[in-house]
Amino acid sequence: MNVRFDPSGPLRGRLTVPADKSISHRAAIIGAMASEPVRIRNYLDAADTNSTLRAVAQLGAIVENRGDDLVIRGCGLRNAMAPGEPIDVGNAGTLMRLLPGWLAFQQGSSFELDGDDSIRRRPVDRIAEPLSLMGARIEAREGRFPPFTVHGAALTGVEYELPVASAQVKSCVLLAGLVTDATTVGEPVPSRDHTERMLAAGGAPIARRGDAAAGGFRTTVSNTDELEIGAIDVPGDPSSAAFLIAAGVLVRDSRLVLERVGVNWTRAGFLRILERMGAIVLADLEPPGTFQPDEPIADIDVRNAPIEATTVEAEEVPLAIDELPLVALLGCFADGNTVVRGAGELRVKESDRIATVVHGLRGLGAEIEALPDGFVVTGTGRLRGGRLHSHGDHRLALLGAVAGLVSEEGVEVVGMEAAEVSYPGFVSDVAELLR
Ligand code: S3P
Repeated sequence: MNVRFDPSGPLRGRLTVPADKSISHRAAIIGAMASEPVRIRNYLDAADTNSTLRAVAQLGAIVENRGDDLVIRGCGLRNAMAPGEPIDVGNAGTLMRLLPGWLAFQQGSSFELDGDDSIRRRPVDRIAEPLSLMGARIEAREGRFPPFTVHGAALTGVEYELPVASAQVKSCVLLAGLVTDATTVGEPVPSRDHTERMLAAGGAPIARRGDAAAGGFRTTVSNTDELEIGAIDVPGDPSSAAFLIAAGVLVRDSRLVLERVGVNWTRAGFLRILERMGAIVLADLEPPGTFQPDEPIADIDVRNAPIEATTVEAEEVPLAIDELPLVALLGCFADGNTVVRGAGELRVKESDRIATVVHGLRGLGAEIEALPDGFVVTGTGRLRGGRLHSHGDHRLALLGAVAGLVSEEGVEVVGMEAAEVSYPGFVSDVAELLR
């Protein structure tokens, strides 16, 4: 599906963005691991998170739709059922990397996971390595790609240092660690901590040491008989809000208020980058380093204003990983050279996001160069427009849409349907703001 986004007049109004994708995946998976029913308010209704509901149902959890709420009646920690057929993760990398943490300790059972073409290009060796060290056996195509099979086993605790900061890999190891004497995961720099918060809310013994300013955290989980969570309230997704925030910053005379967005500090990197760029974005952010079971929620108030270039270094990358394509777009309109470094992870997302962002924005007239681990954008204060291909990557499709609103000639996004996996309703939300 091709959709055109024309240069826009001021974007004004209040909107609620879709529910947080990362938290929704975790709510379904951890809900399925719990012994008591978990009520989830505001679960994201999108392709990726629906794959997770189907996956947990295949494993024996009961998923009930109750109006605005979803109730998951879980199997309990050790009682996931092996389905007779592969679990289809669709396009959901988070599902593919988190679920094996639970499956790895279903002793005597085996589970095959597979997904779409893009998932089949995304490596799973980063979870296979720690899970193998803990005692599970993983068999993957060419040793590192889906489809892959997790053979459950009795697990032993490990101290595992993540080679690259990744919340997905960290979460996988922590879930597996729930049945060990003690499992510790060290991360080089902080990454999103939704899993840790949800496990703490569910009563799991979990301790975090370290200091956000002095590098990453070390998180330890240990033997848990059962998880009891009760209720989970999913905030609006800061990564979805980011598209409208960027549009509000860039489109002349805009003023937007985005309601009930998650402002967990491990997700707020983009807002801090914007602050450095001089953008006017007001929100009551959580202080860095905070660790509490609840996910903080706030309204975000955005106004259009001129912006300056900035540099994003490796420490900041995991806190803004999914928003870095938008930093490239903002860089086109900032005064000076905007640089992102230490973001090699972007190459193994739904597309190689360094290549697709650089190629996509250059095709619209941007002055942007790829680096091995990031990009450099020269601010020219304008973007011509043209055509941008999503390559089946939702964040590329949404980037193209925002680029269209701030361009001179509009942007035709080829493959806009990809946006549905994380931001259903983006086109209608923009239309509402323009009314
Ligand atoms: C996610 C973590 C990030 C992010 C992805 C969602 C998560 O990936 O890019 O969209 O929910 O844990 P990595 O853990 O691979 O950095």
